[in-house]
Amino acid sequence: MTAPKKLFIKTYGCQMNVYDSERMAEAMGGAGYIETDTPDDADMILLNTCHIREKAAEKIYSELGRYKHLKAEKPDLKIGVAGCVAQAEGAEIMRRQPMVDLVVGPQSYHRLPELEAQAGHGKKAIDTDFPEDDKFEHLTARPKAKRAPAAFLTVQEGCDKFCAFCVVPYTRGAEVSRPAARILDEARDLVERGVREITLLGQNVNAYHGAGIDGGEWSLAQLIWELDKVDGLERIRFTTSHPNDMSDDLIEAHGTCSKLMPYLHLPVQSGSNKILKRMNRSHDADSYLRLIERIRAARPDILLSGDFIVGFPEETEEDFQDTMDLIRAVNYGQAFSFKYSTRPGTPAAERDQVDENVKSDRLQRLQALISEQQQSIQDSMVGRDVSVLFERSGRFEGQMVGKSEYLHAVHVKADGVQAGDIRRVRITKSNRNSLDGDLV
Ligand code: SAH
Ligand code: SF4
Ligand code: F3S
Repeated sequence: MTAPKKLFIKTYGCQMNVYDSERMAEAMGGAGYIETDTPDDADMILLNTCHIREKAAEKIYSELGRYKHLKAEKPDLKIGVAGCVAQAEGAEIMRRQPMVDLVVGPQSYHRLPELEAQAGHGKKAIDTDFPEDDKFEHLTARPKAKRAPAAFLTVQEGCDKFCAFCVVPYTRGAEVSRPAARILDEARDLVERGVREITLLGQNVNAYHGAGIDGGEWSLAQLIWELDKVDGLERIRFTTSHPNDMSDDLIEAHGTCSKLMPYLHLPVQSGSNKILKRMNRSHDADSYLRLIERIRAARPDILLSGDFIVGFPEETEEDFQDTMDLIRAVNYGQAFSFKYSTRPGTPAAERDQVDENVKSDRLQRLQALISEQQQSIQDSMVGRDVSVLFERSGRFEGQMVGKSEYLHAVHVKADGVQAGDIRRVRITKSNRNSLDGDLV
């Protein structure tokens, strides 16, 4: 028997990439590879890249530079670039960086073992096509290895919305939903392997419209209700949602489906109607706030999270203040915020840009406000009982770490509790990024 070859994967970007990296590792398992957590002893290095903001390609080139000596020492080493940079600039990367043996775009991961076999010793392999079929269908052959209690499951990919700042519609292609039957099979398989919580993933997850098991087309809410029936699956989440696709049945599910966790990531990007229009977001600040009201009516304790871009072309201080007002009106438990970054090929890249210093200043003010809200919501958990899904042991003897239904990290001295257990916990203390509690 030959010793297994070793695969090192480095993952950038969104949760979808995390999910894809897991699938690629499993697919390469079939080709005789096991995963390693260092590039130093790898026989293959795969960078799963993100293209969402500036310097994406530069980051990849400098990372590749770090592997130069490895490639020199070990000519058999294969280096691959996957993900959204591969999709956008794969051919260019191959030309500029001869040490790259293979390039594979997000829609072609099922071909990875084949590409790996073709590439190496000066031979190159590249696939950045958008095939019609479900790539995951070909990525399901895998050992029944035990899994951590919380897992991702991609249900939808791509985007048809073309926000003026965003590369996703170009790198991930048109919106495609996986059939419910496959998702349910995968969910049952995950549960058999120890998973208790599944986060359904999609760039526009609430636009899900896949083939249902009854022959009709299903919404995300219908899919969630079917997952609700899976024994052993205790918690369901989904991300990322677009405000315009928050359908009535999905809002209602937040009030009535007990496995659906009270947490919603609902990016708004800006609170200025002028900017939202120029972003091609097709919702305004008011419609977003009304939507939040309806969601809170269905599930009053829901924790809301968002994404913000500051310094989008032509954003004035007044526009920025509209964003700050919207944040005050919503009260976020969590948010991701970014300085606008020009992406070649997107409509906003051609417009008048806001000064870098102005962007930095706005980002700082926005993040200060968000942290204040985040901290005060977290602090308000003290004295309350929450349910915690324990995921791993903590730093201290007998300590376990898990997540509450609101996605707060909770540290508990919990002898006898195992990863995968769900317990009631009384919160005793709020720290900077986590809560402490005692088993009830
Ligand atoms: N599909 C999701 C988000 C995908 S990208 C949605 O519509 O909300 C994740 C986040 O990156 C976006 O919400 C946005 O806030 C940020 N982002 C995308 N393109 C960007 C750009 N060019 N500059 C800065 N931030 C950007
Ligand atoms: Fe990008 Fe907009 Fe699509 Fe989200 S909805 S992935 S921000 S184009
Ligand atoms: Fe990045 Fe592609 Fe995800 S650009 S955010 S890895 S969809």
